[in-house]
Amino acid sequence: MTAEADLAPQLPFDRPNVLDVAPLYAVLRREAPLVKVRTPAGDPAWLVTRYAQAREVFADPRFGRSHPAPEEASQVSRAAIIAGPTGNYDTEAADHARMRKMLIPAFSANRMRRLADHVQELTDRCLDEMQAAHDAAPEKPVNLHELLAFPLPVLVICELLGVPYEDREQFRDYSERIGRLDGGQDSQLAMADFMAYMGGLAERKRANPGDDVVSDLVRAQQEDPSFTDQDLARLGAGLLFAGHETTAGRIDLGVLMLLSDLTRRDAFVADPAGQVQATVEEILRMSSPGGIGLPRYAHADVEIGGVMIARGDAVLLTVGPENRDEDVFSNPDEFDPTRKPNPHIAFGHGGFFCIGASLARTELRVVFTSLFTRFPGLRLAVGVDELDVRSHRVTGGVDQVPVLW
Ligand code: HEM
Repeated sequence: MTAEADLAPQLPFDRPNVLDVAPLYAVLRREAPLVKVRTPAGDPAWLVTRYAQAREVFADPRFGRSHPAPEEASQVSRAAIIAGPTGNYDTEAADHARMRKMLIPAFSANRMRRLADHVQELTDRCLDEMQAAHDAAPEKPVNLHELLAFPLPVLVICELLGVPYEDREQFRDYSERIGRLDGGQDSQLAMADFMAYMGGLAERKRANPGDDVVSDLVRAQQEDPSFTDQDLARLGAGLLFAGHETTAGRIDLGVLMLLSDLTRRDAFVADPAGQVQATVEEILRMSSPGGIGLPRYAHADVEIGGVMIARGDAVLLTVGPENRDEDVFSNPDEFDPTRKPNPHIAFGHGGFFCIGASLARTELRVVFTSLFTRFPGLRLAVGVDELDVRSHRVTGGVDQVPVLW
């Protein structure tokens, strides 16, 4: 890409609040399906603005996470979790296929079913904590982020991976630092510590295996020694991060969507169990907690939507804004839980489709049904515009969802 990219807008774009996406996306979408932008690190990239081309890029094997010449690649951010290209260009396809194959049994339907029963129990426990906080000071708002949205996905992912829940503050600190857009060296150090932590856990599972994903990976490694200790630690850390930050963000935003207009809340409260499936899909479509995008690098010269992408160029898929493309979703900025069909791409599309999608859907359905059945009068203690957006974080979102009932 040329120096004209220096004039291109830089991500993340300014947004009015955590529920509305930056208005610039719609402007750029009208211009072209892919436009030149600068990444949060300041490097040139293509931003996919339209839904159709997002699906094309997601599904096209000529786009990958590795780069043919990594030292020349655009950097995405200074957060270790999403800094720049990852993996080996020559072996990416085979390495990725191996990773998916290893994780299929780990996320088997049987294990998901067992876990789903437990999700209800864990959710009830979080709601008890909310009630206890409310009882202690009924006039004081309860921070739903801290008592439900954050701990529930952490409890679930800890259980799935076999990570001791007592270690949560430790990996919360790692997660916090590896996801800071301006994290730089500290973010890299936290990533190294996170991987060392997962490496230590794998060591313990090797000696004392359990019915959990890290034990499965340890077993898989015995059959395939090309899957190194470092691969295992990186995958474990990635799963722990992917498994809680994303889901927590959707719980926070979904609650804000339902409570920012009490007619929505009341409509949902009238029949939570009957409406939860479609409501969760609409929450997934409309959630756009972060604003930096999933990176891909072109492995060949590719034409997408009439735009020529050169080999090695970075392409960013922001997903949330693409889910508001009016060519696909009528009144895209309107929260409409009766929307049908709702073909959002919140979990991606194609070969990298989210491995945890069914678990995340289970968690969200249980949380929204239980929360509004137990607290039908839930309301926000402050306006959505007053909430700080965590724009310094890859996963964006909020730290506070103050509620009353
Ligand atoms: C609502 C919650 C979630 C959302 C919105 C979400 C979203 C996504 C998206 C968009 C991708 C595609 C990434 C890409 O194309 O580069 C992805 C991949 C992935 N997700 Fe999720 N995710 C969620 C929950 C989870 C959970 C709970 C887990 C694990 C327990 C998980 C594990 C993964 C993994 C391992 C991948 C990588 C797949 C691959 O590289 O082939 N996710 N997720």
